[in-house]
Amino acid sequence: MTGKKTNNKYLSDHYAKQAQKENFPARSVYKLKEIQQKLQIIRPGNKVLDLGCAPGSWAKFAGELTGKQGLVIGIDLKAVSERFPAHVRILAGDVIALAEKDAVELAAVIGNGFHVVLSDMAPATTGRKEVDAARSYYLCRSALIIARKVLEPGGSFVCKIFQGEDFNGFINEVASDFERHKIFKPQSCRKESKEIYIIALGKKQEDN
Ligand SMILES: C[S@@+](CC[C@H](N)C(=O)[O-])C[C@H]1O[C@@H](n2cnc3c(N)ncnc32)[C@H](O)[C@@H]1O
Repeated sequence: MTGKKTNNKYLSDHYAKQAQKENFPARSVYKLKEIQQKLQIIRPGNKVLDLGCAPGSWAKFAGELTGKQGLVIGIDLKAVSERFPAHVRILAGDVIALAEKDAVELAAVIGNGFHVVLSDMAPATTGRKEVDAARSYYLCRSALIIARKVLEPGGSFVCKIFQGEDFNGFINEVASDFERHKIFKPQSCRKESKEIYIIALGKKQEDN
């Protein structure tokens, strides 16, 4: 047991140190790197929306993958101090409020025709697992509502969720909008964390 804990601590340190070495502002970049390695969701020239982007490591990595022919729009409640190339743009905003806008209003703020919507959003945690999971679900629903409005048919959606009682219901919602989906826990997630990623591929064309 002690050995396991030590190992987990070692891994956390390893990812944090690696992020510093590779000039990423957070260790969370390795979660997206693992997802990308598994499914190649972001391609050169893609238009990517990154919900909950601070401090900016996913946005930076996504920008490397899209290249300057692509575009990355990141949104967060918090300010982002990281410097990005011109094709990676950061907006200050509340994703929950954005999800309430209709498609036209939303497009005026963030654009549309995205190939990929990412959400690594996390609520401020309370330490009470059921409360944190309910707040995470609420953020995921907002991300999915936005993905429905701005994703191209065939597009992909990656969303972090804290597993709780709404988890299965959320998977069902995602499954009805996309051709296929996977549940993935990257190795770089802290083992004690309840977070897991839903990776949905092939957004279905709307019937109406
Ligand atoms: C784990 S961090 C994201 C890390 C990021 N992917 C990276 O690699 O740098 C989660 C972020 O979600 C943001 N967040 C939480 N609720 C939000 C909301 N309603 N609107 C926008 N951002 C939100 C937080 O401010 C926080 O910066």
